Amino acid sequence: MKNTSKLVSALALAAMTSTPALAGPDEDQLWVNDEIQMVTEVAAPAHMENIDTLYSGWRYRSNETQAIQMDDFENPGFVGVENAMVSWAKVEGDAGESCQSCHGDVESLKGVRAVYPRWNEAAGEVRTLEMQVNDCRVTRMSAEEWGYTSGPMANMLALISSVSRGMPVNVAIDGPAQATWEHGKELYYMRTGQLELSCANCHEDSVGLMVRADHLSQGQINGFPTYRLKNTKLNTVHARFKGCVRDTRAQTYKPGSAEFIALELYVASRGNGLSVEGPSVRN
Ligand code: HEC
Ligand code: HEC
Repeated sequence: MKNTSKLVSALALAAMTSTPALAGPDEDQLWVNDEIQMVTEVAAPAHMENIDTLYSGWRYRSNETQAIQMDDFENPGFVGVENAMVSWAKVEGDAGESCQSCHGDVESLKGVRAVYPRWNEAAGEVRTLEMQVNDCRVTRMSAEEWGYTSGPMANMLALISSVSRGMPVNVAIDGPAQATWEHGKELYYMRTGQLELSCANCHEDSVGLMVRADHLSQGQINGFPTYRLKNTKLNTVHARFKGCVRDTRAQTYKPGSAEFIALELYVASRGNGLSVEGPSVRN
């Protein structure tokens, strides 16, 4: 594989002694709480050009890491969900509102995670879930917006995702969202940084590459926000993108930037058909 040496250095494992090996996803089935069955393998949607079958990143993790996601009491992401339940009910801002005073039970947002990012007609823009939450905070609550990748935001996204678990990701890529999707696709295949690597070089061409604890997956976002054992917190999509771009030694885009919004729509669409898993658990 042409890019292997670049990949190895990109993963900062240059001192590694063993040769990288390739291994496919495992055969495990994902049931959460013995109750929610997740689709972790499904035929790729028609717009995918180089991949036939989609696999959740869960299928590339060790049995130990997989097990943590299978029980909400074990999954540390649920501490974030609990914290978000407190903010959901809390009145904040000059309008004297809480999320709950308008939306009622969080179950009313069931299905929402699966279709975002989504075109918002009134605003005339593609909105990520983070943007929508901040829009509600600012325009409906007269409260301060949360940092795009902040703890309170990650927690709220975990809560909103949790009520859609098991539902298929189904973002729209046509109509008014199409131009943003095309932009995201361009960014996905664009080589960046000193290492001249694109997302596709790793998450399409090199899927299965094993380098120590890292087993390269398709880079799906159906599991976000993701509790990472590495940094022991919930990670949002744009924070993860930032880390991956940085690994190519490129200047990275800002979380919430037009580029990352477009990239998120495109990457989400590459997971259409997989289950919403968030909050998931990864390395
Ligand atoms: C004053 C009422 C009000 C408050 C308070 C409020 N929202 Fe909303 N929210 C709305 C309305 C109305 C919409 C739908 C209209 C729109 O698209 O802007 C909406 C839309 C949403 C959506 C998108 C739903 C969809 O189907 O696409 C999410 C997610 C959301 N709100 C989350 C929150 C969260 C989280 C909070 C608390 C931080 C909150 N909202 C506070 C009124 C409110
Ligand atoms: C140098 C190789 C490399 C490049 C280039 C790269 N990534 Fe990654 N990425 C990784 C590794 C290693 C992981 C951790 C193992 C895994 O989940 O695949 C990862 C993980 C991810 C994940 C988390 C998957 C999950 O299941 O939680 C996402 C999402 C992701 N990458 C998206 C991207 C995007 C978008 C780009 C382009 C901007 C990109 N990556 C570029 C190496 C790379």
